[in-house]
Amino acid sequence: MKIWIGCDHAGFDRKREVIAYLKEQNMDVTDCGYQGEHTDYPVIAKRVADAVLGTPGSFGILICGTGLGMSIAANKVKGIRATLCTETFSAKYARLHNDANILCIGARTLGSGVTIEIVDTFLHTDFEGGRHETRVNMIHELENK
Ligand code: RB5
Repeated sequence: MKIWIGCDHAGFDRKREVIAYLKEQNMDVTDCGYQGEHTDYPVIAKRVADAVLGTPGSFGILICGTGLGMSIAANKVKGIRATLCTETFSAKYARLHNDANILCIGARTLGSGVTIEIVDTFLHTDFEGGRHETRVNMIHELENK
């Protein structure tokens, strides 16, 4: 499984913890960086979104202070379904029902233990398809409205 990860300054420490965890799990993770003390999160969101779209079947993880800016920015990129998850139930359904391809995390709102559980759940849950696929396609039709 290929994973692209990026953060702003607020998410830097948490990103390091997540990368270390993913490496321990033998995941193929690429750090798409940050831009130092005053990172503009939309730049990193676009970088990770492009990487996910360029590698079918891969996933992205974006970490900022709340996860909100990253999710708003990533969802502007056509083809991206970025979900901010604050607990494992949402992480599970983000994959099962929404076929999310980017997980957004708030470093200032969650501790590292919960974050790792969310990441694990997200990466190990498959899309259910069926009626949910129809709805996901409907989401992307909105991109052309
Ligand atoms: C940075 O201060 C903060 O605005 C950012 O990390 C994020 O929370 C934005 O949504």
